[in-house]
Amino acid sequence: MIPYTVYKVFHLTGLFMVILGLGGLMLARLAGASLEKPIRRRAAITHGVGLLIVLIGGFGMLGGMSPMPLWVIGKLLVWLFLGAEMALILRKSEWVGKLWWLTILAAGFAAYLVVYKPGG
Ligand code: HEM
Repeated sequence: MIPYTVYKVFHLTGLFMVILGLGGLMLARLAGASLEKPIRRRAAITHGVGLLIVLIGGFGMLGGMSPMPLWVIGKLLVWLFLGAEMALILRKSEWVGKLWWLTILAAGFAAYLVVYKPGG
């Protein structure tokens, strides 16, 4: 049985990886840097593994709670957005300036959801 606290450390570590991967790639894009393959791969792997760790940690803490509370559904939508963002940054560089602020808003919204747990 994995302790709740271990899942939470995992969850937060995964989050830092997701934000690091997205932030790093967005700044490189905003700087007009040509994203060589090793750079893209480093950002994509950090982001992808981070997403997986967020999911495992998050559902580990939920411990199979059913039905899924509304606040968790909201966080899952934020997770999906943070997941899709990597492709947007790579394919739509003209959106990166706006995605930067949307990332902060989305992560802040997820923090609001977990602290206040609207809908119980
Ligand atoms: C895959 C979707 C996700 C699930 C199932 C999930 C689930 C959870 C659960 C069950 C907790 C523990 C709540 C508590 O102890 O009261 C938690 C904590 C947390 N989650 Fe998530 N989460 C998900 C995605 C996210 C995302 C995308 C973010 C931010 C961008 C996030 C940020 C946090 C934070 C900061 C905490 C710690 C709150 C505290 O220390 O009390 N989570 N999450």
